[in-house]
Amino acid sequence: MSAEAAISRLWPAPSAAPLDDTELTALYGRTDRPHLRVNFVTSVDGAVSLDGYSAGLSGVPDKRVFGLLRMLCDGLLVAAGTLRHEGYGAVRLDAARRAWRRAHGLAEYPTLVVVSGSLDLDPAQAAFADAPVRPVVLTHAAAEAPPGLTEVADLVRCGADRVDLAAGLAELRRRGLSQVLCEGGPHLFGALTAADLVDEVCLTVAPLLAGAGPGRIAAGPAGGHRELPLRHVLAAADGVLMLRYAREAQAQAQTEAEDNANANADAAPAPAPAAAS
Ligand SMILES: NC(=O)c1ccc[n+]([C@@H]2O[C@H](COP(=O)([O-])OP(=O)(O)OC[C@H]3O[C@@H](n4cnc5c(N)ncnc54)[C@H](OP(=O)(O)O)[C@@H]3O)[C@@H](O)[C@H]2O)c1
Repeated sequence: MSAEAAISRLWPAPSAAPLDDTELTALYGRTDRPHLRVNFVTSVDGAVSLDGYSAGLSGVPDKRVFGLLRMLCDGLLVAAGTLRHEGYGAVRLDAARRAWRRAHGLAEYPTLVVVSGSLDLDPAQAAFADAPVRPVVLTHAAAEAPPGLTEVADLVRCGADRVDLAAGLAELRRRGLSQVLCEGGPHLFGALTAADLVDEVCLTVAPLLAGAGPGRIAAGPAGGHRELPLRHVLAAADGVLMLRYAREAQAQAQTEAEDNANANADAAPAPAPAAAS
């Protein structure tokens, strides 16, 4: 691992030793119950983007965790706005991460799940056209699909004239996608928070001030605030912080998963955090 990618734990149990991928995987893990994890990167002053994109906020350590979180999930949830703007490609994992998934009884790739009210989606976008697993689009009954979309994706209509996110997540669970990773964007995060559906937030803080202009990581109509306790703080050599916040029930399952992972650290193959929790 390059020094640039090194990540260590600041809290709890600080240690300067760089975490390897097995340790990082155990720190994030999977749970034994339906779970919605949200992952964002932000600047110190709370910006969601730099020059319009998240790439300017991200770096090698953030991309490392970003990839591990994709490896751990069943469903990768993204709003149509972010899919279009960031030009999402097909969700692929490298051979080692696919092998990890197979060894833990998971499908080789997570399923991409897109949330769209308008269905203004391009079936030729690589996220659909080259997908290794047929994506799912969560939409509502009144939305009209563009030509070709149903050839490359399953449309799930939940809600009469707006997307009912709780119903959508229930349908994902019914399809076996119980561990869902949401990669944004801000309007989807705002709606998920308003509906009280967020179990965990993984937040990377880049050590820079973006200044006025960019929005926050949550957007849309105001909803009630939610308590979300801090669970760990990781740091990378370049001053990047990686914070994990989770609800109590998830945190408990996570602790059990970590205990099992640590207890079996010498065993091969590595234990599945999901099975352990
Ligand atoms: N910093 C980060 O980690 C990060 C992560 C992701 C995105 N971003 C940034 O965020 C920006 C994009 O944000 P955005 O304002 O376009 O927000 P967004 O939440 O990515 O996309 C909004 C669109 O997604 C669909 N959508 C979201 N929530 C929905 C809901 N509850 N019901 C139905 N449809 C829903 C709608 O699509 P339709 O129009 O198809 O109905 C809506 O117009 C970009 O600059 C991107 O780079 C940053």
